[in-house]
Amino acid sequence: MAKGKVSVYFCNECGYESTKWMGQCPACKEWNTFVEEKVEKKSAKTTREISEVKTYSISEIEDADDERMTGILEFDRVLGGGIVKGSLILVGGDPGIGKSTLLLQMCREMSHADLKLLYVSGEESLRQIKIRANRIGQFTDKLSLLSETNLTLIRGVIEKAKPDVVVVDSIQTMMCEDVSSAPGSVSQVRETTNILMQLAKGLGITIFVVGHVTKEGTVAGPRVLEHMVDTVLYIEGDRYASYRILRSVKNRFGSTNEMGVFEMKGDGLREVLNPSEYMLAGRARDASGSIVTCSVEGTRPMLLELQALVTKSNFGMPRRTAVGIDYNRVNLIMAVLEKRLGMPLSDYDAYVNITGGIKINEPAIDLGLVLAIISSFKNEPIDDKTICFGEVGLSGEVRSVNMALQRVNEAVKLGFRRCILPKVSVEELDKVSGIEIVGVDNLTNLPNIL
Ligand code: TYD
Ligand code: MG
Repeated sequence: MAKGKVSVYFCNECGYESTKWMGQCPACKEWNTFVEEKVEKKSAKTTREISEVKTYSISEIEDADDERMTGILEFDRVLGGGIVKGSLILVGGDPGIGKSTLLLQMCREMSHADLKLLYVSGEESLRQIKIRANRIGQFTDKLSLLSETNLTLIRGVIEKAKPDVVVVDSIQTMMCEDVSSAPGSVSQVRETTNILMQLAKGLGITIFVVGHVTKEGTVAGPRVLEHMVDTVLYIEGDRYASYRILRSVKNRFGSTNEMGVFEMKGDGLREVLNPSEYMLAGRARDASGSIVTCSVEGTRPMLLELQALVTKSNFGMPRRTAVGIDYNRVNLIMAVLEKRLGMPLSDYDAYVNITGGIKINEPAIDLGLVLAIISSFKNEPIDDKTICFGEVGLSGEVRSVNMALQRVNEAVKLGFRRCILPKVSVEELDKVSGIEIVGVDNLTNLPNIL
């Protein structure tokens, strides 16, 4: 195979590789994400002999207990019960969302737990890190800082110091000399992640990699390395609101739909241990179009306020806006209400919002959406001690959802008096007391609760 540099085009969003430029990426369907990079063509010849390679049966392999370290409680929960030794973890999110803050806080907790840590920053000077650290609190000398972007040098430091945990902030600033393209390019980001992966597995060190989510420009996004790492965490939230949600989208050592809730304070991120209370704080009472519903994220039920505002449309085409909830789901539910309950919603604009800025995809909030829309349409408030959940189908049937008992228990805990839920789920709840249970099988049998 001929050696030398060749032009390759990469999608900055997902890392798709092509020999020619394309307007739309065939893999992730994003537009205008292709960039040209010159890469060294390597010969694909392997240097190892086939006789050196051995296969094993499952029983021959020793059991390894997955040793876990713990840092911040919410963080550990999202990771499935602690940080697994020797894993590579990607922490992604928009710039300024709190990735560096969260990881520095984790370092603080772990340094007090007598673990050896190394924080490598390619973005900030040591003095800038110190300023941030001063806001967060007391650190011990178990944490070493390094401001460096050259991965060969960083690798040397890691191999020599052998820390338990390393944080690399951020992968887009790191550079490996063997790759000619600029830091942040797809081939650079891939190569540096690869080196970090080998370090993590080889030395049994846990490495956290920070990846900025980029909307445009020439910097590769964290999705490019999702498939290479063990665990992918994303920090979400509105930059201008104080809460932050930590979600895992891939986890080789635990379930994925767990989430952790944090609040950004003057002294770093603080865990929100009871998100239901937090999400419902400041709720308007006696306002039409508002209802509390319950969504399950991972193993934890969370109560949310859902709001709808339905007003007469001034144009032929009604306007619909959805925040925190799937837009198509709103249209679907409105069509069901129009057809099954005869509500003339096609003449009405509708604005739907989940307060707190959180995004929910679970169909269990359908029934909440239905009640919020009806309440706003009739301009009559729903009693504020009522909660509801259930999936709504196209014939207006209310379908069962999982973990009904946990949802109802969460509602009882927060003082709700009545719960409207799918009729089929009522049987599971015979031991629940202190709350009135109302089962519904179809929207046409919806009790008159307004
Ligand atoms: P940062 O962790 O630097 O974001 P990222 O690494 O994801 O780019 O967070 C920066 C924001 O957080 C910044 O706007 C200031 C805010 N912040 C606080 O509100 N309180 C704090 O204690 C700290 C350290 C940061
Ligand atoms: Mg940062």
